[in-house]
Amino acid sequence: MILNATNQTIWLPQQASTIAAEVDSLFYFIFYWVVFFFILVLLVTFYFSWKYKSKKKGLTSSLDHNTTLEITWTIIPLILTLVVFFWGAETYIKMNIIPYGAMEVNVTAQKWSWNFTYKEGFSNPKVLVVPVNKPVKLLMQSQDVLHSFYVPDFRVKMDVIPNRYMMLWFEPTKIGEFDIFCTEYCGKSHSEMLGKVRVLSQSDYERWVEEVNVIDESIPLVEVGKTAYKRYACNTCHSIDGTQETGPSFKGIWGSEVIHEVNDPVNLDENYIRESIFYPQMNIVKGFPNGNMPTFKGLIRDREIEGIIEYIKELK
Ligand code: CUA
Repeated sequence: MILNATNQTIWLPQQASTIAAEVDSLFYFIFYWVVFFFILVLLVTFYFSWKYKSKKKGLTSSLDHNTTLEITWTIIPLILTLVVFFWGAETYIKMNIIPYGAMEVNVTAQKWSWNFTYKEGFSNPKVLVVPVNKPVKLLMQSQDVLHSFYVPDFRVKMDVIPNRYMMLWFEPTKIGEFDIFCTEYCGKSHSEMLGKVRVLSQSDYERWVEEVNVIDESIPLVEVGKTAYKRYACNTCHSIDGTQETGPSFKGIWGSEVIHEVNDPVNLDENYIRESIFYPQMNIVKGFPNGNMPTFKGLIRDREIEGIIEYIKELK
């Protein structure tokens, strides 16, 4: 049953990768056989209970064996499960053999965001931008706990386990935006660990790479900071309105004295912000002992740090 032009059905999301149709065919094969046998068994049950109903006690059939029936209900399920096995194995192998020459993107999962790093030497948080009709290999790692990368429209999902690389590949067949979900419970904001895959035409993709590779010097620092605050998902832990969440709020902290769990208090200045972004575990603020924050060293650019400093200055 097709719901709209994106060939989304009542059961399944749209098919936007080369493997999606194959995964769905196998799903429907299993599904319709299950429905068929379910109805068959129900009908036979009702028919027999009607046919052999008896008010007399102790009356049972003398039949205790039927070889033809035994063979039939052994052979048919055996054939079906073998079909499912070989079909499933074939699809599974296809999903696990990464095509030669696939474009590679590194993925870092951390509580609670996805970050995508490109070979060209830049990274893009939350949004994975790829060209259409090109195989893409994701080399994934976790900074903290177990996460799982899932794009329903592509029918691909892979756990991201700490201390090892996990791999996944897909080839998008449609231009557009597709949801990324984390599908392993990974803490308080697991449900907010979302992202998007943005699939562009080859020429749009090349233009995007050029644009993202330079930081526009004409944008005011505070605006750069505001964008970076969302881009690096600072907002999942640090509010700007004084609400205390997983981390301290940014409101009114500029110039204040920060009391630490272990080290001496310091005044919050430019160097303190920079150090907190690069080495978040060095000075844990009193009252926030879980120290969840990952480092952004190597991800965030200098101008973005300067932007965040300006942004925090403004949040009086
Ligand atoms: Cu990451 Cu759930």
